Parts: sequence; structure tokens; C-alpha cells
Amino acid sequence: MTDVIKNTRKKTYKKVKAPIVEALKQAYEHPSFQFHIPGHTRGNGTLPEFRKLIGKKALTVDTTDEFDGLGTLHPATGPIKEAQELAAKAFGAEKTFFLLNGSTAGNLALAMGLTKQGQKIITNRNCHRSILTGMIISGADPLWLIPKRFEEWGIWGNIEAEDVEKLLQENQDVSLVWITNPTYEGVVSDVKAISQVCKKYKVPLIVDEAHATLWDFNKHLPESALTLGADAVVHSLHKTGGSMSQSSMLHICKGSCLDIASVEKALKLLHTTSPSLMLLASLDAARANLESPRGQKQIEKAVNNAKYLRREIDKLKTIHQLKGDFGYKTDVTKIFIKSDKLSGKRLESILEIDFNIEVESATDNGLLILSNIGNTKSDMEYLVKCLQKIDKTDYNDICYMENRKHMPMLTPQIKMSLRESYYSEKETVNKEQAVGRISGEVIAECPPGISILLPGELITEAHLPYLLDYETIDVIKK
Ligand SMILES: Cc1ncc(COP(=O)(O)O)c(C=O)c1O
Repeated sequence: MTDVIKNTRKKTYKKVKAPIVEALKQAYEHPSFQFHIPGHTRGNGTLPEFRKLIGKKALTVDTTDEFDGLGTLHPATGPIKEAQELAAKAFGAEKTFFLLNGSTAGNLALAMGLTKQGQKIITNRNCHRSILTGMIISGADPLWLIPKRFEEWGIWGNIEAEDVEKLLQENQDVSLVWITNPTYEGVVSDVKAISQVCKKYKVPLIVDEAHATLWDFNKHLPESALTLGADAVVHSLHKTGGSMSQSSMLHICKGSCLDIASVEKALKLLHTTSPSLMLLASLDAARANLESPRGQKQIEKAVNNAKYLRREIDKLKTIHQLKGDFGYKTDVTKIFIKSDKLSGKRLESILEIDFNIEVESATDNGLLILSNIGNTKSDMEYLVKCLQKIDKTDYNDICYMENRKHMPMLTPQIKMSLRESYYSEKETVNKEQAVGRISGEVIAECPPGISILLPGELITEAHLPYLLDYETIDVIKK
């Protein structure tokens, strides 16, 4: 898979094979007369300012499958097939599918391909809305698993294997267990224990590992569900793995009992029929990079930068970090911090306005920093300096806790099934009048895409602080 290449300085380095990247390079270097889509034809038919911004080269390689010997996505042929096979090998999967429209597409395809009307699916309440959209399509019903709540941090915690077992004992007719690991803030559940429970009850396990792409490539990061007994895993390569926005992977695990053909058919229906070769090449490139010595070093650096940041945060008086020493594990590269003086949202805006720093996200209590493979040590040093300044500054004059809540942590009261209520007749009412009514819509703001309300759930006073941006809500018609 790897070739040893000699550069002009006679230094040797390993180049990992990337078939789509190679094929796209060939197409770029040997252009044909083009009478097919995309109609901008290498950028000639677009706004010059846009072409200047992103570059002529980017527009020249903006093509779709079927042309220039680049292979097809559905069915996978040529370089695309080869790239998917190399990805499966790199991640240790039985089969890997490249996804456009992010991990959302993977979750939709898993739900559509593997679940049916009325089937019960155990899933955690803080799952991404795409899993629930998939269940609206298939008609399956979520059976809610309520993870631990870390109240003082205002975030969801880990899922306990005993809670999964309890639900499986109480419900003999569960078709699937579908969990999210890690949480958005990096809290890690014991997937091995959960997969053992699933095997005991002969129920397949899907793990939404959207935020865990790097785990397969570094020993200091937690183990991926691909090696812990899951049946399918979804990775948002674009989130932390280095591919372009919107590109992800869906892995079917070795020894899985899932119907792969059915998932593939669903993917074909859900995917665009004009897949972007640039996005597919970026998945191929990301996998090749992560496997290469260069990529390995970048992950090591991301881990070391995170450790450095964490050491420095520990020296601060008023800023604290979520650590993995309370009986659960965390992904070291996801640093969730909170301040004694400021709300998470306030801290976020100080970093942004006063220091030109943008973090991943913020909630009422704290904010999330990602130590990425593309970050440098000096990025981290700058962030540390800014946090040190904030730590020493007296913000009492501007300190406030907002009335708004950003991280939904409610236990749902279900009155109707998800699909039935989604397709029921609805009416739009003012938010205050919605209390006591049944929701007809999905309300799940991104990030993190965790549901505040789902169709079929009773709307209560407790929902209102999460809904400050909403004047009206769609409810089931009486
Ligand atoms: C846990 C989880 N799953 C799935 C998704 C969807 O991923 P994508 O943005 O790649 O479609 C997200 C997005 O934030 C997520 O947090």
C-alpha cells in the first residue's frame, strides 16, 4: 500500500496510495473537451470573483463521477471502489462506504436500510437528529436510553451498559441498539461492555462515532467501536479527520450480522446522483494522510497540544476543565472548559471579540475547544495566553447567566409515535400556547443537533428556555 519515494534532496518518505486523488490528478493533467456537467466547465461559466477566491484549479477538478475514468459511487467502481477498499482496510472494517451529506447520510441509510415500521430501537436521548430523521422515514420507534447527566457541567455524560441491559430485559422485541460515542464534549462510554450486552441479547449494535475518526490511528486515544464488537460505525471524517466539509464514512464492522446490501441500496437512494469528486478525493486523501507517517505525527501533535493546553488550564484559578477521572473516560483532544465568573456563551464571545479566537461551540455552562491535527503548538500557546488573561481579569461587571438554555437535557414525555405525529395534521401556535400540546416538529439546533423536541412529545414549561428563538411551534391539530 505504501511506496517509498525519493525527493530531490534524497530524503526518503513514505507515500500512501490515494487512488481518487491520483485519478483526479491525471484528469487535471490531461483535460478533454468537455460537453457535460458541471456546466461551469472548469470555472469559465462562473462569477470571476468566485473563481479568483477559490482558484481555477479547484474549479477544474470540480467534476462528478462517470467522467474522465474516475469511476462511479453507486455501484462503486474504478478508483472510488479502490479507495473505499483502502479505507476499509485502514479502519479495520469489513466494508466502507464514502458518504456525501456527512454522517447524516450514513445515519439515514442505516435507519432506512435496517429498521422498519413499529420496530423498537434503543437509542440515547442525546443522539444526533439524523438518527431520528431516519426513524421518521422508516417508522421505527426510539426507546429512550437516558445517559448520565453531568449537571454541574451542563452536559450529557456516558451511557452505562447496565441501562442498556435493563431496557433489553424489559423489552424483548428490540431490533437494534444505536448509541453515540463519544458525546460532543468527548465523554466516552464503555462500548465493549455495551457490545457484550448486545451480543448476550442477540441485538446488533450501531455506534455513531461522528466525533471519533482519529481513534483508530493513535494509541493515546480511546478504542474505536470497530474493534469493540459493534456492527456498524459512522465517522465524520470532515469533523476531525482532515477531509472537506460534508464528507464522511460509514463502516460495516468485521463479523457484523447486518444486511449490507440493504444499507447500500438505501445509500444509493439517499445520495445525490452527481457526487462531487472533490469531496470523494478529500476522503481518500484524509485516509491516506492519517495512515502516513506525516498524519501519524499530526495526530500525535494534536494529542500533545491538548495535553499541554490541559496542563496550563489546571494552573488557572477560575477556569476548569472536564477530566476523565470521574469514573468515565474522555477524548483528550476535546477540551470542555467552564469559568467560575462567566457563562460558556459569555466566555465564547470574549474569546471571539477580544482575542479573535473561535471555538467549536459553547453552552450555558462551558465551551468546547478542539485540538485538531491542523493546529500548531503556537496556536495553543496563543490560546493559553488568552485564557490566562481572562483568568486574571475581573469580569464581575459584565458577568451574567443567560435565561436561555443551549444543551437540551430533558426526559421526553411521549404521546404519539415519531412518524405518525410527523405526518399528522398540524397547526401553528404561539410558543406559550404550545405548552400542554403535542409537538409536530423536530426542534434540534446545531451544534450539537440534539433534540429539544420531537414530533409526538408533550411540550412543557421546561422546554421554553431552549426555545427563545421560536415565536411559534407546529403542534398536532386537536
Ligand atoms: C453525534 C453526531 N452524529 C452525526 C452527526 C452528523 O454529522 P454530519 O455533520 O457529518 O452530517 C453529528 C453532527 O454534528 C453528530 O454530532
